[in-house]
Amino acid sequence: MKTDKYSVGVIGAGVMGERMMNALCSHERFCLTTVADVSPDRAKEAARHAGGASWHTDHRELLAREGLDLVYLAVPPKFHHPIALDVLASGRHLLCEKPLANTTKEAEEMLRAARAAGVIHAMHFPLYYRPVYAELKRRLEALGTIRRIDIVTHFHQWPRPWQQTAWLSGREQGGFIREVLPHFLHLTQSLFGRLRVVRSDVEYPADPLACEVGVSALLQVEDGTPVTINGLSGIARQEHLSYTVYGTEGTLSVVNWGTLLAGGRGEPLAEVPLPDENRLHQLLDELAAALDGREARLIGFETGVEVQNVLEALLDLS
Ligand SMILES: NC(=O)c1ccc[n+]([C@@H]2O[C@H](COP(=O)([O-])OP(=O)(O)OC[C@H]3O[C@@H](n4cnc5c(N)ncnc54)[C@H](O)[C@@H]3O)[C@@H](O)[C@H]2O)c1
Repeated sequence: MKTDKYSVGVIGAGVMGERMMNALCSHERFCLTTVADVSPDRAKEAARHAGGASWHTDHRELLAREGLDLVYLAVPPKFHHPIALDVLASGRHLLCEKPLANTTKEAEEMLRAARAAGVIHAMHFPLYYRPVYAELKRRLEALGTIRRIDIVTHFHQWPRPWQQTAWLSGREQGGFIREVLPHFLHLTQSLFGRLRVVRSDVEYPADPLACEVGVSALLQVEDGTPVTINGLSGIARQEHLSYTVYGTEGTLSVVNWGTLLAGGRGEPLAEVPLPDENRLHQLLDELAAALDGREARLIGFETGVEVQNVLEALLDLS
């Protein structure tokens, strides 16, 4: 176990990069030493904010630095694959944003490279580290027979007001199917097992470069339990995300990431009080444990490949 802090480099200093950099700078086991972003202004500002980390506009310069233990990759999805392969070739441990890649083929190559490099590979699915996950899992048994799981992703505006970047509105790598659904696909797989897409109807606008505006899909988990997806953007309803598990004895619903609602037979749903925890620190605690050589609760690239497979089937890309 290393007694001094683990040295981390961040590639991609956008919305997510900034959040993770704040968490890294306030975590006792990590030191943010270097940042890379193709935008020199972003790289420079992030490095200044981190108290004098080095900054680069080419990720290969970041990888050339000595003493770097871990890289966090938070660039748009289509750049995950080439940059991740460079990170892995340099022998660094890698925490990669979701979705793992832009295609299953890329994701599989990343998994192979990570295994060959013998490094720690992990993905960032924040729900898994939130108190809502543990409580949802704990309460599943009391639901009786699970009849259905419903995933609702509704947006009055896409991309969302806080995430106004061009790539998110494009068909190539953006859209809420790629950007938001991986969280719920991973949640479902981690609680109920592998997912299979039975049918998926994706609604696209006339502009061939623009991302989807709707999806209606039916999936199944391994035991045959149906999972529905109802996704829409550009509707009047304020952004609303929910993940609802319907059982014969009870209902559980995760609303807007952090709120858990529960109810028994014939009862209205009521909010379940949950502790307030820093989910990014939870993930960083687990990463530190893995780097120390201890048991850790991480989501590896194998899982990223599985989620990518489902995404590809939903988007009918195969
Ligand atoms: N886990 C989560 O909860 C969560 C939330 C939001 C976004 N994300 C994921 O994080 C990733 C980044 O999303 P974002 O919202 O921060 O995007 P963003 O557009 O805000 O930031 C991306 C940054 O990467 C930089 N960049 C682009 N190409 C680069 C390259 N080749 N080398 C270095 N820098 C490059 C851009 O200049 C930009 O600063 C995406 O994969 C997204 O799906 C995850």
